[in-house]
Amino acid sequence: MIFSDISVATLAQLRQAAEAILEHAYAPYSHFPVGAALLTESGRIFQGCNIENAAYPSGLCAEAVAIGQMVATLGRTPIRAAYIACKGHSPAWPCGTCRQRLNEFAGPSMWVYTSMLAGSPQRMTFSELLPNSFGPADLQRPGK
Ligand code: THU
Repeated sequence: MIFSDISVATLAQLRQAAEAILEHAYAPYSHFPVGAALLTESGRIFQGCNIENAAYPSGLCAEAVAIGQMVATLGRTPIRAAYIACKGHSPAWPCGTCRQRLNEFAGPSMWVYTSMLAGSPQRMTFSELLPNSFGPADLQRPGK
């Protein structure tokens, strides 16, 4: 597996996309806006923000919305990098459910970045974030 770096210019674009969509977050209950931007292997960027709901469990995470935008536009697409932006006092790594959602479309060498509005991003490989994951390959039946 080759974990080559994302170029500085592309990373800046991805961060800007995550921070821009953060402003559209609908988070009247948690007051914790989140923005997510996904870079596809083909170089496209898709954005999502969290969308909360008065019936709390019906709320959507930013990553889920970004994946929805990507799949609704391009169908099944491998992700090269994900960037999660928040306004909190510590960076926000994807929640457990969103790690599983990302796993479905994670490219072979996917990076996950996170940062607050100020400061440099932290990053991890997706397999550091979700080791020993259960994914599409696990559902393949022997001989199929
Ligand atoms: N949230 C996300 O959008 N992504 C995550 O990975 C972590 C949590 C949202 C859900 C909720 O609207 C708010 O952050 C507080 O949990």
